[in-house]
Amino acid sequence: MHRSKNKQSSAGFTNQEKMGEITNVMEYQAIAKQKLPKMVYDYYASGAEDEWTLNENREAFSRILFRPRILIDVSKIDITTTVLGFKISMPIMIAPSAMQKMANPEGEYATARAASAAGTIMTLSSWATSSVEEVASTGPGIRFFQLYVYKDRNVVEQLVRRAERAGFKAIALTVDTPRLGRREADIKNRFVLPPYLTLKNFEGLDLGKMDKSNDSGLASYVAGQIDRTLSWKDVKWLQSITSLPILVKGVITAEDARLAVHSGAAGIIVSNHGARQLDYVPATISALEEVVTAAQGRIPVYLDGGVRRGTDVFKALALGAAGVFIGRPVVFALAAEGEAGVRNVLRMLREEFELTMALGGCTSLADITRSHIFTEGDRLGRPLPRL
Ligand code: FNR
Repeated sequence: MHRSKNKQSSAGFTNQEKMGEITNVMEYQAIAKQKLPKMVYDYYASGAEDEWTLNENREAFSRILFRPRILIDVSKIDITTTVLGFKISMPIMIAPSAMQKMANPEGEYATARAASAAGTIMTLSSWATSSVEEVASTGPGIRFFQLYVYKDRNVVEQLVRRAERAGFKAIALTVDTPRLGRREADIKNRFVLPPYLTLKNFEGLDLGKMDKSNDSGLASYVAGQIDRTLSWKDVKWLQSITSLPILVKGVITAEDARLAVHSGAAGIIVSNHGARQLDYVPATISALEEVVTAAQGRIPVYLDGGVRRGTDVFKALALGAAGVFIGRPVVFALAAEGEAGVRNVLRMLREEFELTMALGGCTSLADITRSHIFTEGDRLGRPLPRL
């Protein structure tokens, strides 16, 4: 597998020269595709099975339109917010995505530094190629830790302790992955973590490597190590071993939102895992309002999935999200430009979001209301499902 930094096109121009200045976060994907080995690019980009939900995560945003208000003084706009009591510069945060050193040698360090420079939160994956301690050593910053629950609960306890000691402020418990979704590109590529990398949080526990298999190596790893019995009682168990607040990541129905509230979760992340788990679930932006309604304002609701524009952030907030997380834009920008790329992604989204607020007639996040948008459901006069 070769890695070409500046692949020349037939016309003799590099891809980046042809594209000129990068003006939106989606442009990093094509550059990443040029630069990365196919196995790595496919792992980052893929969704499950038919990738219906993958496309829908974007499409559904495009079906929501604005009802902007005019002649409002928008000379000063405040997009700062508070997440679980932590003040951040904008309601745009970084979702956990695994194995970032496959994209760039600096991997999670670069992401941590970029998030910190932008004044926002990075969520570190359990399956990071840098450990909680290493990421903490990059400097100050508000960071959350994403948890996969292993069959061996001692491993989980140790890891949670280490995250606490390293100064992580919350646990994002991923609840949509009792088994890995069927990502066909990874199966065809026999995806495995490259041998020069390890899942650093598990180094020394014999769980840091991924064996080659007749399948996606990650799917086999999950089948061997991840606890399929995970249930709501384990949220209580997790609370018994840590005082960190727990965000339940992967709720997309009202029923589960109510259970999350009852379980004592500190918040919900409406997520379909970037469309990498169950295909044919709705786009997260389509499921958001049902979850927000069910949570009844008792705990904050966040969203990830398909957020690529400042307008998307505004739409999510108008539907009741307290903030959003981005996944793939980070790994694609890392592949293209390392830390500078991630900084640029955060800057572009910030600027687009601020502009959307100005053109929508909002000067603070509290000004963003449901009546600033209309959805397909609104147009069809469709009531929210009564659940
Ligand atoms: C992910 N995601 C993920 N989620 C999680 O809880 N733990 C993990 O280790 C990972 N790893 C991971 C790797 C890659 C390459 C991707 C693309 C995604 C899911 C992630 O946190 C988030 O839910 C989605 O990425 C959000 O969708 P977008 O922004 O990628 O469309």
